[in-house]
Amino acid sequence: MLVFTLKGGRETVFNPISPYGKDISDLFIIVLGIGGLVFLLVAGLLTYAIITGARRSRRSRNDGLTDEVRQIGGNTRLEFAWTAAPAVLLIALFIPTIMVMNSSDPAKVNTNKPDVIVIGHQWWWEYQYPNAGVVTANELHLPVMTDANGNGYLVHLKAADVQHDFWVPALGRKIDIYPDKENFLYLKPTTIGNTLGACAEYCGAQHAWMRINVIVQSQVDFDKWLAEQKAAQTKTAPAAAAGQGQGDPVRGEQIFLNNTCINCHAISGTTAVSPIAPNLTHLGSRTTLGTGIVVNDPPNLGRWISDPSAIKPGVRMPGYQLPKQDLNDLVAYLEEQK
Ligand code: CUA
Repeated sequence: MLVFTLKGGRETVFNPISPYGKDISDLFIIVLGIGGLVFLLVAGLLTYAIITGARRSRRSRNDGLTDEVRQIGGNTRLEFAWTAAPAVLLIALFIPTIMVMNSSDPAKVNTNKPDVIVIGHQWWWEYQYPNAGVVTANELHLPVMTDANGNGYLVHLKAADVQHDFWVPALGRKIDIYPDKENFLYLKPTTIGNTLGACAEYCGAQHAWMRINVIVQSQVDFDKWLAEQKAAQTKTAPAAAAGQGQGDPVRGEQIFLNNTCINCHAISGTTAVSPIAPNLTHLGSRTTLGTGIVVNDPPNLGRWISDPSAIKPGVRMPGYQLPKQDLNDLVAYLEEQK
């Protein structure tokens, strides 16, 4: 049941798809390399000392001598060397670190006009595209970018409840998200495809299932997606669904609007406007449910509505025990909203 649902999506620092991610990944490899060499040197010397020490001790005992080793305390040259060498190494690592901190996180301009607003909730992500007036959840679509995009998309990060942390390793740095403090970040994906991130600050029961699903599309596909999200929802005529044993989306809309769904969820073009839970406008266009925990298909959506805690323990949404036909109709309504 638990699946990493986004095809091709992977959480890794070794496969950066943005200049920011690449700078951090390169630095990580340098630090890993130098750290590895230091480890081999120390472990090698230690092994050497253990082997020769044991041998010498055995020999001394056989000869009836004390097995105390030669004392080297007060050797100024040696003490200077093992103080200076780590200091030089740390400085050598400090300089590229400072350079990457600057290059991977350029100064923010026009922070009053972000391209995307990211809001962390327990335990899902709200994504707003203020220029298009689009609000969606749990799948962050971005267009592929080039040098012509400058620093990339400016992202404004906020939290609705507790502290979260937005981290997509392939796209760059980690950044904390606070309820009472605004943070900004540039995202500049340069390769089309999917990648994964995660909330990186413990935020409660389902912290581990606060995945960040990133979908990088060509500019054309992204514009098309954005236009579809912005467009009014289309409704299938009841006749189209009748007689197929399928749910009736028209009836499903009434079930949605007449139940307490609307206390938390919004669907644009309807009277449901609450921003508490994920915006369900065009829910059918998303690939996953529950912030990536299951594939978005009618059986999973039905199970989710009936008993979301069974899929995602601790989830804020209560289960709805609807009559079977009502559930089918509701699922049909939500899934047809592509
Ligand atoms: Cu949100 Cu951890």
